Amino acid sequence: MAAAPRITELIARKRDGGALSADELRWVVERYLATTTGTTGGGTADGVAVSEAQMAAFLMAGVLRGFTEEEARALTDVFVDSGDRLDLSALEGPTVDKHSTGGVGDGTTLLVAPLLASAGAQVVKLSGRGLGHTGGTLDKLEAIPGFRVDLSPEEMRDVAARIGCVVAAQTDRLVPADRAIYALRDVTGTTPSTGLIASSVMSKKLASGAGSIVLDVKAGQGAFMATEEDAAGLAELCVRIATAAGRRCAAYVTAMDHPLGKGIGNALEVAECVRLLRAAPDGRLAALSLDLAAMGLVLARGLEHGMLPSAREELVERWASGAALERLRSMVEAQGGDPRVCDDPGAVLPAAPVRLEVPAERAGFIGALPAREVGEISGGLGAGRARKGDDVDPAVGLDLAVEVGDEVAVGDPLAIIHARTDSAAGDAAARLRTIVGYRDEAPVQRSDVLRVVG
Ligand code: URA
Repeated sequence: MAAAPRITELIARKRDGGALSADELRWVVERYLATTTGTTGGGTADGVAVSEAQMAAFLMAGVLRGFTEEEARALTDVFVDSGDRLDLSALEGPTVDKHSTGGVGDGTTLLVAPLLASAGAQVVKLSGRGLGHTGGTLDKLEAIPGFRVDLSPEEMRDVAARIGCVVAAQTDRLVPADRAIYALRDVTGTTPSTGLIASSVMSKKLASGAGSIVLDVKAGQGAFMATEEDAAGLAELCVRIATAAGRRCAAYVTAMDHPLGKGIGNALEVAECVRLLRAAPDGRLAALSLDLAAMGLVLARGLEHGMLPSAREELVERWASGAALERLRSMVEAQGGDPRVCDDPGAVLPAAPVRLEVPAERAGFIGALPAREVGEISGGLGAGRARKGDDVDPAVGLDLAVEVGDEVAVGDPLAIIHARTDSAAGDAAARLRTIVGYRDEAPVQRSDVLRVVG
């Protein structure tokens, strides 16, 4: 057996701009897990450990110097191999997964999963919780009384087989290496690296087992990736990693400069999605959800991208017929939630005791409604979490009455704040007033979809 590499040499090589082989990366990751958790990787019987400090130094060197595509693929493989894979082979229809890199007012999963299910695809979606200014799908669904996200793999497969869609939490056994390293990245300033993000995201997607994957990579001031170029680079790398692993994959690069939907906060976002599904598709959140679902359908059916418009047409019809709403209702019921949320969300979802309308202070066009700050306001009311493990308040947040480009008169409502106390509502209203930008002329509207990759 080859002698164990010296971790200090590997760190130095990365620091100096060199690349590690797949075996070396596997050794670093597995030895780090063995050292810190003892859960995997052949132990440290030879006395060679990789401490948290050394892993953090290695990650920082990688953030500053970059990882090659081969390194990103190798990291993805070792992350996937560190735990279980969800076996979806027993499901009859084509399996599709969807992933967003995180935004504000982004309830697309709540629309895309039932839409795809209504068209015969099977969606097993392992989602995350909100962190910082971004919301998380699990927190949103848990706003529905009784809704369970902690399902066993058997339960996930059962719900998907019966309903066509299931949205659940990642189990502890799925990609434990990414879980451990992501937690370290979170506290060492080593999150922003295209190679690390791609391997982290794609290892979870590959381990989740779906044959087709559609990605929504956000770009803008409310996103991980501030520029369209960086987001496109991440999207391209993710698509190549998935394709090399034998999956069908495509990505949209989409704008996240201002919130996608009008509801910002857990119950408010569920209510918005239900209201949208109860009528014909309307607005930006609906439009992007249809785009993502259409791509998922085209991939799942093995069609050419030229079939996107007809797939979208089909999904518009399924939406308008109520078929997607029925799938959402069945999924909520199958996961223990109160299905009446699909009839009258206001009667079922938790409501905050204080509602405060924030009026426009001047006339004009809304020119700016920055996503990050809107997310922070919602988080400050209690809808989000500053640290992993914090509790979230399902009821609080904002219902925006406007979006960028809308014309308002003085006194027109900008938003309704949903808060626990008058003072929390007042603080949120004051902050909202400072971040809304007005213009005298209508801003040029651009599509939320900036690029399609794959
Ligand atoms: N989301 C992930 O799952 N991983 C990252 O590295 C960044 C965002």
